[in-house]
Amino acid sequence: MLFDMYALLGLLVALGCIRPTFAVPIETPQSSAYVDWRTFKANGVNLGGWFEQESTIDTQFWDKYSGGASDEWGLCEHLGSQCGPVLEHRYATWITTKDIDKLASGGVKVLRIPTTYAAWIKVPGSQLYSGNQTVYLKQIADYAISTYDMHIIVDTHSLPGGVNGLTTGEATGHWDWFWNETNFDYSMQVIDKVISFVQNSGSPQSYSIEPINEPADNNTNMITFGTPEALTDHGAAWVLKYIKAVVQSVAAVNPKVPVMFQGSFKYPSYWAGDFPADTNLVFDVHNYYFENRPATSENLPGLLYSDARARSSDGKFPVFVGEWAIQTTYNNSLALRKRNLNAGLAAFGEYTQGSSYWTAKYTGNTSVDGQGQQRDYWSYETFIDDGFIEGV
Ligand SMILES: *[C@@H]1O[C@H](CO)[C@@H](O)[C@H](O)[C@H]1NC(C)=O
Ligand SMILES: *[C@@H]1O[C@H](CO)[C@@H](O)[C@H](O)[C@H]1NC(C)=O
Ligand SMILES: *[C@@H]1O[C@H](CO)[C@@H](O)[C@H](O)[C@H]1NC(C)=O
Ligand SMILES: *[C@@H]1O[C@H](CO)[C@@H](O)[C@H](O)[C@H]1NC(C)=O
Ligand SMILES: *[C@@H]1O[C@H](CO)[C@@H](O)[C@H](O)[C@H]1NC(C)=O
Repeated sequence: MLFDMYALLGLLVALGCIRPTFAVPIETPQSSAYVDWRTFKANGVNLGGWFEQESTIDTQFWDKYSGGASDEWGLCEHLGSQCGPVLEHRYATWITTKDIDKLASGGVKVLRIPTTYAAWIKVPGSQLYSGNQTVYLKQIADYAISTYDMHIIVDTHSLPGGVNGLTTGEATGHWDWFWNETNFDYSMQVIDKVISFVQNSGSPQSYSIEPINEPADNNTNMITFGTPEALTDHGAAWVLKYIKAVVQSVAAVNPKVPVMFQGSFKYPSYWAGDFPADTNLVFDVHNYYFENRPATSENLPGLLYSDARARSSDGKFPVFVGEWAIQTTYNNSLALRKRNLNAGLAAFGEYTQGSSYWTAKYTGNTSVDGQGQQRDYWSYETFIDDGFIEGV
C-alpha cells in the first residue's frame, strides 16, 4: 500500500513506545495439509516495510535514510554503497520471532509477505537491492509455520519495469512492465526462484504464491487508482498472459501450491472466465477507505460489508482480502477503531476467505482527518496491544 507522497514528506516518527510482552500460546500446531482456499479461512497481516520499503510505514527510518526520495529505488540511489548494510539491518530487525509471537497472540494465521523482485533476481540497472532477503524470509517463515502453523503468502510486490507507476511497483513513474518481453522474461525468472524457494522450503504445503500486486497502467492520478479503471483492458491482457504462465509454471512443479492473483482493482468476475474451474487459484482483493471515497469512521462498517459482498466469489474461485485498513478519508475516530476493525474481520470472514491487514507494524505519525495519526489506524500489533481483537 502507499499514500499520497506529497502529504507525507519530511515527517519523523516518535519510536520507543514499550509494548507489553505476550505469553506464547502453548499448543502444538497440527502439521498442516496443503491449503484449499475454497475451504480454508483465516485472518492475518501483511509484513509491510520488511522486504519492501515505503515512506509512510516507518517515518523515522525513512527520514534517516531516504534523502527525501519517494520510493525505495530512490532511497537506495541516495544511500549508494550503504544501501546494502542499511537494508540488511532492516531485514534482521524489523520483523523478528517476537513479532510472530505477538501476532499469533492476536489470532494471526496468515502472513502475507511483500518482497521486491530484487529479493529473487538481480536485474541490470535496477537500484533495488539484492541481498539476504530470502535467508530472513526462510527463518521467519519456518518459525511461523513450525510454531503456529501459519500460512505464508509470498507476494512479489514489484516486478521489473514497474507494474503501476507507483513507489511500490518498482519506482515512481515506472510502467515498463506492461507489454515488455524483456521484463516478462525477468518476471518469470523471479517466479521460478519463488517456486523453488517454496518447493525446497521443507514445508511447501504452508505457502501460496502471489506473483503480482496492484497492476495499473491507467493511473496518472490517484483518483483512478483503487478503481477497476486503473487497469485498462489492454494492460489486463498482458497481466492475464503473465498469470497464465505463472499458473503453468507452478503447476508443473507442484500443482498443490495455490496461486493468489491480485487482479488490480477489477472484480474477480472480470478474470474468472479466463481460467478453467479446476485451476488452483484464489483472488486477492484490496479494500481501502482512506482516500477518494466518502468514508468516515462512523459509516465504515456499512462500506466494509458492501465491499465484502460485492467483491466476493461468484462460486468459481475463492476470494481473500489481501489488504485493507480502517483509516477513513474523513472524521477518523479513535474510539471507533475497535468496532471497525472487528467489523472488517467479520465481514471479510463472512463473505470471503478472510483477510490480511495492512500492516503488522506501522509507526508513521502523519496526522489523519479527525483524531490521531496514521499509526493509530494501520498497526495490527498496536491493535493487539490495545486488546482490540475479539475472540482471541
Ligand atoms: C512526527 O514526529 C516527529 C519527531 O519524530 C516530529 O518532528 C513531527 O512533528 C511529528 N509529526 C506529527 C504530525 O506529529
Ligand atoms: C548474507 O548472509 C551471509 C550468511 O549469513 C553473510 O555471510 C553475508 O555477509 C550476508 N550478506 C550481506 C550482503 O550482508
Ligand atoms: C522494456 O523496459 C525497459 C525498462 O525496464 C526499457 O529500458 C526497455 O526500453 C523496454 N523495452 C521496450 C521494447 O520497450
Ligand atoms: C482510464 O481511466 C479513466 C478514469 O480515470 C477512464 O475514464 C478511462 O476509460 C480509462 N481508460 C481506459 C483505456 O481504460
Ligand atoms: C465530520 O464531522 C463534522 C463535525 O463533527 C461534521 O460537521 C462533518 O459533516 C463530518 N464529515 C463527514 C464527511 O461526515
